[in-house]
Amino acid sequence: MEYADLLIETYGRVAVIRLNRPKALNALNDNMMNELGDALYKFDADKNIGCIVLTGSEKAFAAGADIAAMAEYTYADTYPDNYIGRNWEHILNVRKPVIGAVAGFCLGGGCELAMMCDFLIAADSARFGQPEIKVGVTPGAGGTQRLPRTIGKAKAMDLLLTARMIDAAEAERTGLVSRVVPADKLMEEALAAATVVASMSVTVAMAIKDSVNRAFETTLTEGVRYERRYFHAAFGTPAQKEGMSAFLAKRAAKFDGL
Ligand code: HXC
Repeated sequence: MEYADLLIETYGRVAVIRLNRPKALNALNDNMMNELGDALYKFDADKNIGCIVLTGSEKAFAAGADIAAMAEYTYADTYPDNYIGRNWEHILNVRKPVIGAVAGFCLGGGCELAMMCDFLIAADSARFGQPEIKVGVTPGAGGTQRLPRTIGKAKAMDLLLTARMIDAAEAERTGLVSRVVPADKLMEEALAAATVVASMSVTVAMAIKDSVNRAFETTLTEGVRYERRYFHAAFGTPAQKEGMSAFLAKRAAKFDGL
């Protein structure tokens, strides 16, 4: 796959998508988001891939939506075309696990994109924030919605209203990221985590992802019912037969894309 604004690599059953506009700190523009959607859908459909890693550069995961590209926009340029929404949320349609590996600036739309990943591993160099207020706009891809659900109202309001950045340690304390690692170990750690995920049953991983995401859209009782359906359905999969027979035989389970 060749893209203008992305770099693509695969490692066994893991695909790595790297945002790649280094001169603009990976500012997210329309072309990059179209390409990201294209790459994500291709890997989601690829039977040889079990997990996707989304990352940026050492300096920036992404410093936000491209301010230069949108500075002259009018309301009429944005609302009718649903600017941003129409091609930013492809990642939410991906059914396989997506791990975000974040180093450097992760701001504005970059932080919103990161929050659409299933979990985040951060380099100790990572800086998170929603500084949109400083450029006279609100967040537009979930910053006011996913951030308070993730880190709580007080911290979210603090970040959204003051535009201050938090470092990786604070991001881990607040639950925005699952792990912090030294910057030079980021990709090693992200690939190791993704390789573990990709070695599991892709069917079960998808079910877990769907079930967890359901928790944010429904009541607890309905969410547990939803989960229970997947649990029962798992008994109809080869993954359950392999996983449980391997456990009883005291051998490692081999899911091989089941
Ligand atoms: C376009 C950007 C950019 C952005 C950085 N650059 N962020 N270009 N859009 N969001 C460009 C700079 O213009 C500069 O280009 C180059 O990247 C390096 O940036 P510097 O500012 O020189 O670097 P530094 O001094 O290290 O400061 C880094 C920074 C700062 C703190 C991240 O660049 C910054 O504040 N960026 C904007 C962050 C932001 O406001 N994000 C929210 C955007 S609104 P040149 O050509 O001069 O070298 C948004 C809405 C999302 O995201 C809505 C989603 C629906």
